[in-house]
Parts: sequence; C-alpha cells; structure tokens
Amino acid sequence: MTLHTPSTSEPRAARARGVFVTGTDTEIGKTFVSCAILHALRGIGVRPAAMKPIASGAVWRDDAWHNDDVDALVDAAAVELPPEIMTPYLFPTPAAPHIVAAREGATLDIARIVACHDDAQARADYVVVEGVGGFRVPLDEQLDTGDLAVALGLPVVLVVGMRLGCLSHALLSAEAIVARGLTLAGWVANRIDPDFALADANIDTLRRRFASPGVASGPGRLPYAVPMLGIVPFLKPAQPRIAAASLDVAPLLAASDREGRPDDA
Ligand SMILES: Nc1ncnc2c1ncn2[C@@H]1O[C@H](COP(=O)(O)OP(=O)(O)OP(=O)(O)O)[C@@H](O)[C@H]1O
Ligand SMILES: [Mg+2]
Repeated sequence: MTLHTPSTSEPRAARARGVFVTGTDTEIGKTFVSCAILHALRGIGVRPAAMKPIASGAVWRDDAWHNDDVDALVDAAAVELPPEIMTPYLFPTPAAPHIVAAREGATLDIARIVACHDDAQARADYVVVEGVGGFRVPLDEQLDTGDLAVALGLPVVLVVGMRLGCLSHALLSAEAIVARGLTLAGWVANRIDPDFALADANIDTLRRRFASPGVASGPGRLPYAVPMLGIVPFLKPAQPRIAAASLDVAPLLAASDREGRPDDA
C-alpha cells in the first residue's frame, strides 16, 4: 500500500491570482476570450481555474445541468472546480439573472460568490471569473455585477465586441469600471462581426483612447493607460486555443501582483 504524504515543497503560487472578465454587452465573446486567456495562461505554465458564478440558460443532460459557458470554461481550464464552487448560481431559464432568481425564490448573494471564489483561489494558481452580460447587470433591487467585481477585488478585463456601437459601449464600461475603484487591467478587441466596416479604424480609435491617459484626463476619462491584450480575429471554427495566440497575458499577471483584496494589506 502506498501512502501519499502531502509535500510542503510542492510548487504553489505565492498568492493565488485572478481576473474578472466583463464585456461591452452580452454575446460579444466574454466566454470565448476567457477561454483564450485560460489557454494563454496554461501556455506559460500557470494552472488556472475558471468561474462563471452566475449562469442562466441550462439543459438537463447526463444527470446534470449544463450551461454552454460553463462547459466551455471547464474545457479550457487546467483545474476543474466542483460545480457548486464554479457556478454557485445556475438557472435553467435564459433571462436576466435577478429576474430568474426572483422567480425561483432565490437571492443572488455576493458573499456566497466571494466564499466560492476564496475556495477556487485555494485550488488554483489563477482564477478567471466570467461576469454576466455587460458590466452593470442587476443582481437585485440595488446591486449589480459591478458590485460583484468590487467584492471579489479583482482587476478587470474588458472584452470589446468589435461591431457598430462598440465605441461608446467600451468607453462607458471603462468609465464605470474605474469609477468603482477597480483596476482596468487590459482590454481585448474581439472581431466578433466579420462584416464590421472599418474595424481596424475602430480598434485604432479605442487603442488611442485607452493608451493616452494624459490626453484623456478630465471628467469620465481614464486616469491611466490601459494595455490592449490583443486583437482576436474572427475565427471559424471559433477555437479559443487558436485565439490564445493573439493574446498577451503578461499585463494580467502584473496587475494581479499589484492588486490585493482589501484584507490582504
Ligand atoms: N473572435 C471570434 N470569432 C468567431 N466567433 C466568435 C468570436 N468571439 C466569439 N465568437 C462566438 O460568438 C458567440 C458569442 O460568444 P460568447 O459566448 O463568448 O459571448 P459572451 O459575451 O460570453 O456571451 P454571454 O453574455 O451570453 O455570456 C459564440 O458562439 C462564440 O463562439
Ligand atoms: Mg459568456
């Protein structure tokens, strides 16, 4: 019989790290880019886990509820979390979370998600947390997903779905993220719409806005330069492992090293 004695010399990250992935809207590639980030991290030797703390839209298959985002994130992550830790709130009905939660008599409790996140952090080198929809999706009468990001204390990645209307959505989202005192650690231009006219010029517009804190000082402007993590091309088939090659995740690791939960001080 072999006894396994846990070794204290096994390599572990000095402090678990992570990122909160938000986007300019729903269906603009948060899951796809989160999966690409997971692959990119694995490519540099990090063993990441993923959370989708609130998911709506699930089907019953093989004795379990399945949500597309959750399944994709599980496939991309190196560390698989217990389902109730990865997704403490999973609703079958594909609708706004606070509405489906209320219909099912549930309350979306941020403290419960933070506890699951603490657990996830103890199990992995890095935790990629995918938000819901855009940055401010209501969780109840008062709170929204911005409050969730604040409670998790994570740097934020903004996925910009490159399509008509994305410029204002991107700038509004960035403004809201910074207004909450969060670090906008990077943004990703995701070429979600292959027919978007003058996509390069739009990407360039955002690149200049995000890179020029001096020019952009004043009300509602970014106080610091935000790195672009990459331009993800329209891919068919959409394979996150391929998209990972378009991303530079080094700024995320640097942002996590700077960031800490308030009680880490
Ligand atoms: N760069 C891309 N090239 C091709 N297809 C893409 C790309 N990015 C995303 N997609 C596809 O677009 C669809 C929506 O992407 P995804 O599910 O990642 O969006 P989301 O923002 O996570 O949506 P939700 O708000 O529902 O969580 C998916 O079918 C995905 O495969
Ligand atoms: Mg998603």
